[in-house]
Amino acid sequence: MRVLFLLAAGNTLLASAFYIPSTDAAARRDLFSTFDEADQRFPISPPHQFIKAGPNDHRGPCPGLNSLANHGFISRSGVDSFFNIVAASNQVYRMGIAASTFAGVLGLFGGNLLDPTLPISIGEPPSNAGLAGLLPGLLAPPSGLTNTHNQFECDASLTRCDLYLCNDAHTLQPQYLEPLLDLYAADPSIANSVALVSQQHANRINDSIAKNGLFFFGPVQMVVGAFTALQVPSLFANYSAEHPEGFMSVEGLMSIYGASRASDGTLTWSRGSERIPDVYYRRPGALLAQWDLPILLPQVLEMWLLFPETLSIGGNLGEPNTFVPLDLGAFTHGAYSLDDLRQPGGLNLICFIYQLVQILLPDLLGNVNDLLASVLTDLGQVTDGVLGSFICPRSMGAVDLTMLNQYPGWVKSQKKKTLL
Ligand code: HEM
Ligand SMILES: *[C@@H]1O[C@H](CO)[C@@H](O)[C@H](O)[C@H]1NC(C)=O
Ligand SMILES: *[C@@H]1O[C@H](CO)[C@@H](O)[C@H](O)[C@H]1NC(C)=O
Repeated sequence: MRVLFLLAAGNTLLASAFYIPSTDAAARRDLFSTFDEADQRFPISPPHQFIKAGPNDHRGPCPGLNSLANHGFISRSGVDSFFNIVAASNQVYRMGIAASTFAGVLGLFGGNLLDPTLPISIGEPPSNAGLAGLLPGLLAPPSGLTNTHNQFECDASLTRCDLYLCNDAHTLQPQYLEPLLDLYAADPSIANSVALVSQQHANRINDSIAKNGLFFFGPVQMVVGAFTALQVPSLFANYSAEHPEGFMSVEGLMSIYGASRASDGTLTWSRGSERIPDVYYRRPGALLAQWDLPILLPQVLEMWLLFPETLSIGGNLGEPNTFVPLDLGAFTHGAYSLDDLRQPGGLNLICFIYQLVQILLPDLLGNVNDLLASVLTDLGQVTDGVLGSFICPRSMGAVDLTMLNQYPGWVKSQKKKTLL
């Protein structure tokens, strides 16, 4: 865990050195001024052509990973190692290594921790592959990302329903994608792209509060919700020669999300269809242009500023419209308040996230700490020269997890975990 923290902390130094608000058009244009056809065209010729997933392939709640599998950048079966999943997110979509590692580590909640390659199913649990090494009673069987509710998969997703509302949190719901496409159809410029996805995120949170009595948005879910939402403008835009700073192509979004229009205009989706368009351009590969902490932290702060409801931490009390915010100060024993998280630069935010990860993960992944640490060390050494000592301005010794028991949506997901 310390290694993960240091990996992140190293990048935090970068973050303060290269503060690039996404609204700062000039800074952004600078970073994205050198369009490079060969570097930026998505490499989707064979063997990376699109092949729709078959019924036995695993697909789940993440359109990015589903598309990587449909193009064979990770195993087309949808089960691949932690390292391959993180590497493909970085190399194909240019999601920065710290951000990819963070997502990958949360993804381990659905993975098989007893296999040294740390295989993760991006969807349903793997049939019985990888179960051989499982010691009875030691760990729950690998659940796949689809079944990581309130570990990774969370409520109020951009295009997916809440688990306890639809009993399905992985199927794309066209009625949620439609308003997102409408927002970008009206304004495809990259300058407002964070504002527009923030609007969708806020609408989805309000919708969950109004409809889902078991809505739960704890600190981890709030962070996951913001990060995953921001991937749409950051990783799904078309970074072409005409718009090197990015263009929110509605056609491109539909394709990567796996949706299409029937002849009568109805938006439809079928499992396994997430496809990178034939002519499509990704972010530049240069380290500073990748979507990592220096870019995403200011985006999160912008999201909270424009739509404060996206910083809602808490949940409903069993009935719609009973949202009670979590007292973050009490939860963190005084270490952080909501205002601390909003501080410019995102230093408190990133320290809060990594301290939370440090506190929460060892409990759940504790018995494989060494294995995990060695994976992260390798990753850190290969990709990041900035590991170093760094001290967060505040420290958080423990959190009061019992405070979450006031939220029935959290309690229900905890029950499910012990049953597995
Ligand atoms: C280590 C790699 C990754 C892991 C483990 C991962 C996992 C997940 C999971 C579990 C969710 C569901 C969260 C929720 O319930 O809302 C999700 C959502 C999402 N992910 Fe990923 N992801 C990864 C990489 C990527 C990449 C590379 C992209 C983009 C290219 C991406 C784009 C998205 C988007 C846009 C959503 C929101 C889906 C929606 O509701 O519309 N992810 N991811
Ligand atoms: C969400 O609900 C709150 C409280 O009712 C309201 O103030 C806010 O404007 C709503 N946000 C959106 C994006 O509709
Ligand atoms: C991406 O941009 C290129 C260059 O402008 C364009 O030819 C292509 O059609 C765009 N792709 C999509 C799906 O919008």
